[in-house]
Amino acid sequence: MAARERLTAISKHLDHRPLATPRSPIGNSPPNNPPFPSTRSLYTENKPKMSTQPEHPTLLIPGPIEFDDAVLQSMSHYSESHVGPAFVATFGETLSMLRKLFQTTDTASQPFVLSGSGTLGWDLVAANLAEPGDDVLVLHTGYFADSFAACFETYGAKPTQLKAPIGSRPQLPEIEKALGEKKYKILTVTHVDTSTGVLSELKALSELVHRVSPETLLIVDGVCSVGSENIEFDNWKLDGVITASQKGIGCPAGLSISMYSGRAMDVFKSRKTPPGSYFASMKNWLPIMQNYEAKKPSYFATPSPQLIHALNTSLTQILSRPLSDRFAAHQEASQKIKKAIADLGLKQLATDPADQANGMTAIYLPEGVKAPELLPNLFKKGVVFAGGLHKEIAAKYIRFGHMGVSVTDPKRNDIDKAIKALETGLSDVGYQKA
Ligand SMILES: Cc1ncc(COP(=O)(O)O)c(C=O)c1O
Repeated sequence: MAARERLTAISKHLDHRPLATPRSPIGNSPPNNPPFPSTRSLYTENKPKMSTQPEHPTLLIPGPIEFDDAVLQSMSHYSESHVGPAFVATFGETLSMLRKLFQTTDTASQPFVLSGSGTLGWDLVAANLAEPGDDVLVLHTGYFADSFAACFETYGAKPTQLKAPIGSRPQLPEIEKALGEKKYKILTVTHVDTSTGVLSELKALSELVHRVSPETLLIVDGVCSVGSENIEFDNWKLDGVITASQKGIGCPAGLSISMYSGRAMDVFKSRKTPPGSYFASMKNWLPIMQNYEAKKPSYFATPSPQLIHALNTSLTQILSRPLSDRFAAHQEASQKIKKAIADLGLKQLATDPADQANGMTAIYLPEGVKAPELLPNLFKKGVVFAGGLHKEIAAKYIRFGHMGVSVTDPKRNDIDKAIKALETGLSDVGYQKA
């Protein structure tokens, strides 16, 4: 995708205002498509507060998500040296906690936490595990595979995309066939594609890759799945999972978080050419991560102590309960939402229930209902959903994110409130179930 096109799509994805469509360009709203009211006018002093945070519409897009108060408050930590013993201990503990979140006890596994967003994880993979000319098989379940493929191209690798119809995923026999046709250094899969809500199965995929192409590294884009979907790094023999702070982990955006297997690190160490990036070079970061985890001060580039404190708090909270409970809570909320959507007569992009993510739902709009009418209506009801992102059908659907505290904190009522808002919002814009 061209850089300009990607920029336009991304800004739509992150903007809670209506999508610009030929009929309702942003900034030129027709009478039945009122502009979004200001948050200030909606949230007045006399409304009950959801937490110690200022009143705000509930953010139910597929990331960033709502924050827990304690996570947010950790960001107001006083300034401290990034090489001082207190911060080094916090960073080291955070890296060790990530091993638990990814369910790896293999000491050869290597976590990285770098300042940046999920996109930086693609650069880490493409700049360090692939070399110019290497073939990479990218399984495509939506928008984010195109971007990962573009990242590989940037570093001179040769991605081949294996695509599936919108709403489904490449099937194992097709993947087996593709792996038989060429020797791929890396296979990538988007665990949950945020543009379609399609969930990919990792265990059977890994068994297949290890059986038919055992040297191929299996890399997972888990930006929209880590923290909301079960990922068993060791048991499933994964070679890399990249993610970011702002989705299932429930932190402010700003951290690229990843885990690599000993096998992946060996591939990195036996490169013939130096990594084609300076900031995203594992050569530069590996000793720093190892030193931090050993609680030794180290410096390559300044980390953000405040974000690391937030991540430490959120991981402490996540790990204070069995991970299985957390994933069950996401499944339960997801089932409730998917049932409500079916009861409303609406369809999801992901057709097969086995392919439906537990942390988000992509919902086709009914005939005649436009996102630029529905989304501001939901906003007035205090709920922010996202518009469509898949470039072929962007105007035809909306996305509902249900990750983190919105589903795990029993004091919040986010999911019921959102379902109710969707029911009444659809009726306000003229939809009646057939
Ligand atoms: C599946 C997936 N991969 C990668 C990214 C890129 O992450 P970021 O926007 O944090 O750079 C996103 C962002 O939403 C995503 O959903």
